[in-house]
Amino acid sequence: MSGSDKADRRERILRAAVQQGLLEPETAVLAGFVDLDGVNETVTSLRSAFPDSLRVLHAFAAKANCLVPVLEELRLSGMGCEVASAGELAQALEAGFAPEHIVFDSPAKTRAELARALSLGVAVNADSFQELARLDEILAARRSDSRIGVRVNPQVGAGSITAMSTATATSKFGIPLEDEGNRRRLLQTYRDRPWLTWVHTHVGSQGCPLDLIARGIAKAVEFAEEINAHLGHRQVTGIDIGGGLPVNFADDETTPGFDTYVDHLREHAPALFSGEYEIVTEFGRSVLAKNGFTAAYVEYTKTVGGRPIAITHAGAQVATRTVFAPDAWPLRIEAHDPHGRAKHGRPVRQDIAGPCCFAGDLLARDRALPLLDVGDLVVVPDTGAYYFSTPFHYNSLPEPAVHGARIDADGRVTFRLLRPAQAAHPIPALAGR
Ligand SMILES: Cc1ncc(COP(=O)(O)O)c(C=O)c1O
Repeated sequence: MSGSDKADRRERILRAAVQQGLLEPETAVLAGFVDLDGVNETVTSLRSAFPDSLRVLHAFAAKANCLVPVLEELRLSGMGCEVASAGELAQALEAGFAPEHIVFDSPAKTRAELARALSLGVAVNADSFQELARLDEILAARRSDSRIGVRVNPQVGAGSITAMSTATATSKFGIPLEDEGNRRRLLQTYRDRPWLTWVHTHVGSQGCPLDLIARGIAKAVEFAEEINAHLGHRQVTGIDIGGGLPVNFADDETTPGFDTYVDHLREHAPALFSGEYEIVTEFGRSVLAKNGFTAAYVEYTKTVGGRPIAITHAGAQVATRTVFAPDAWPLRIEAHDPHGRAKHGRPVRQDIAGPCCFAGDLLARDRALPLLDVGDLVVVPDTGAYYFSTPFHYNSLPEPAVHGARIDADGRVTFRLLRPAQAAHPIPALAGR
């Protein structure tokens, strides 16, 4: 789908949402939308980027959008699911994923969570030597069909967002490969545990250049080869290469694509394509971000210190990262009229604020847009992952509804409710009033 198609679909979905009452200035002032056709197309491009000859499970990172109906759609399109908490595991199971298509990553798995994953047959990636010791205890008492791996930190360094970079020298994730003694200890760990058959790595999420990601994965693949050479047989049969394909938030072009990512992998980690290994991927943002948008009404406008400000209903509760770290997470904003039609007036520099009660609750500062009026709609593209799906409950603001949209061959838009709006807190009756 081209960039202009994406923008056109967004406007069609928005206008249909207004017509069908899914956005309404009193009762539905904020909503999230997921373009389900777009999601399908993205999953197809992910699947076709890897050669058919390889056994690959593309496990969607549930943290990116954990709504059960979204996970269901992804399951039906052929994906597995990566989960990083007991809550996400429950959501993946509710969405119908077979346990063997679920991968459990987290640096803080409790004994009970590990035992449950192993009894279900969910794949587990151990994050530390201490977690491996817990797995020893559980597996001494019962056998399991789970595929079990170790998350290694290839320590290849950070991308442009430190908070999202997991392969730094001191990252909290995984077992650092280059720390004194760790390689030797890991080789012995695999020797002592024939059930350890996978190697996992995840270099980072957003802001990591493809070369950095590919170099990190290459180190994990080389380490898998080293283990198998050391043991004299192919004990490691699978490599989980994580997610992290960066998303372009600047415009509607989907760059880089999964093909480009695979080209980098071929160059840096050719052994991954030998057919000797099963592969798991764990993409989240690159599957959902560009297939979702947020829409909110402008409730008021004012001019302060000479600058126009639009007070909208979308702020830190749905765009938490952007509000608290605006330089790392800039978002585009589009101005639409009350019917959802794009506004084309002369661009005016203005702030786009949210409803939260703190001064920094701004979606964008000093942004040139057609001047927003009361009753207009702002659209925030690229928010299908890590935004409205995981709201922040500041000011007791309710979770907004999320709607899935499809557009048929005649241009008709149909919606599927993916999450109902949270009911407003009822005002208690006060005695004597
Ligand atoms: C272990 C792991 N896998 C996959 C992902 C998904 O990353 P992304 O959404 O950037 O593809 C994350 C993100 O934090 C992660 O920690």
